[in-house]
Amino acid sequence: MIVKPLLDAERLLEELDTLASYSDTPKPAITRVIFTKPDLEARAYLGGLCQEAGLSIRQDGLGNIFARWEGSEPDAPAVATGSHYDAIPYAGAYDGTVGVLGGLEAIRALQRGGFRPKRSIELILFTSEEPTRFGMGCLGSRAMAGVLGPDNLRQLTDAEGRTLEEVRQEAGYGAPLEEVVLPEGFYHSFVELHIEQGPILEQDHVPIGVVTAIAAPAALRVTLEGKGGHAGTVLMPDRRDALCAAAEIILGVEAFAKNSGSINTVATTGFCEVYPNAVNSVPSKVRLEIDVRDVEQARRDGVIRSIIQGVEQVGTRREVGYNVQIINIDPPAKAGSEVLKALVSSCGEAGVKFKPMVSRAYHDSLFMARIAPTTMVFIPCRDGVSHRPDEYAVPEDIVRGTYILALTLAKLSYADEKPPQVKDEPMTLND
Ligand code: GLV
Ligand code: MN
Ligand code: MN
Repeated sequence: MIVKPLLDAERLLEELDTLASYSDTPKPAITRVIFTKPDLEARAYLGGLCQEAGLSIRQDGLGNIFARWEGSEPDAPAVATGSHYDAIPYAGAYDGTVGVLGGLEAIRALQRGGFRPKRSIELILFTSEEPTRFGMGCLGSRAMAGVLGPDNLRQLTDAEGRTLEEVRQEAGYGAPLEEVVLPEGFYHSFVELHIEQGPILEQDHVPIGVVTAIAAPAALRVTLEGKGGHAGTVLMPDRRDALCAAAEIILGVEAFAKNSGSINTVATTGFCEVYPNAVNSVPSKVRLEIDVRDVEQARRDGVIRSIIQGVEQVGTRREVGYNVQIINIDPPAKAGSEVLKALVSSCGEAGVKFKPMVSRAYHDSLFMARIAPTTMVFIPCRDGVSHRPDEYAVPEDIVRGTYILALTLAKLSYADEKPPQVKDEPMTLND
């Protein structure tokens, strides 16, 4: 079958711009946190666009949105695409949103080109890929894949102590959380379009990255409790300063990652809350959040063990109470071979150069890979910058990525057999 997606590049770019206006911070900084006003406005905007495209919409109790273009075999597992549209504080306008609006435009381009899907094609708008509000990334896809069950979801609270249960109900999502999980085989395949969030494609002058694996992420929360007091009157030998203990731990986090023996190990203490946070008061309590990742799970786990031992040693020596909570410790994901094949041959047909690569950032694809053969299409972003207001992808790259996605979805819609599940095979590294 000849597939000719007809893209409306201008419309896609305008929609990206409109989506960027739903934010709690002024442009170019985008802040859109799950179930806040901008997030709800963005949901309404995107839902309207999906309806306009004639897609049928379903929403689950967690706020994941599913927009389906029904195929001639509506009972066959659908081919899915999509991404997230939440944004961490002071983020840019392209992380996640390119996969959401690019996914929608890929569907519309196929519609314009007269394509008729066999397997349905479904766009998924994932709830809260970013961990900003509830401390855990990929909430929507994690729950869909059954990695986070309803009881765990109900225990999640935000920094103000509000439960996910409370805020989701308030946002109008009251359906049972028990119904969020999807069985393996529910989808035929999943392909996510995303900016690379790193510098490789731009440096190598390659317009498309074909993602073969996603690195294993983990997050820890460390709470420290020392003794507070007056900054002028508590003498140095009597101090049990929680922030000084935290400082040692933070430097340890950096050192353990640097000394892992591989450039692929990264660790970041990106969150530090100090109590009472006053210049003339000895810090009595500190909460740290630490992100640790590696393309190799065993090495990542070794760094986590060293961090935990480091916390114990520093806490004991400084007489500061400590607690380490593992928020998530996820395995890596490997792309499905048949989906990869469809993506690679789409690049070939379009005459577009591509590069196989590992994603060092996590994505909803990490969890979708557990229930469906999955891959991702990466496009370059300027200077590899992401999670910053100056994040940028050039229109040509966005359009090219969307075109390749459309070709791949069309191919998968007609793939005769379910691609084999390969998620449990060991990951191969291509970089
Ligand atoms: C996703 O946003 C990540 O932190 O990798
Ligand atoms: Mn992100
Ligand atoms: Mn993202």
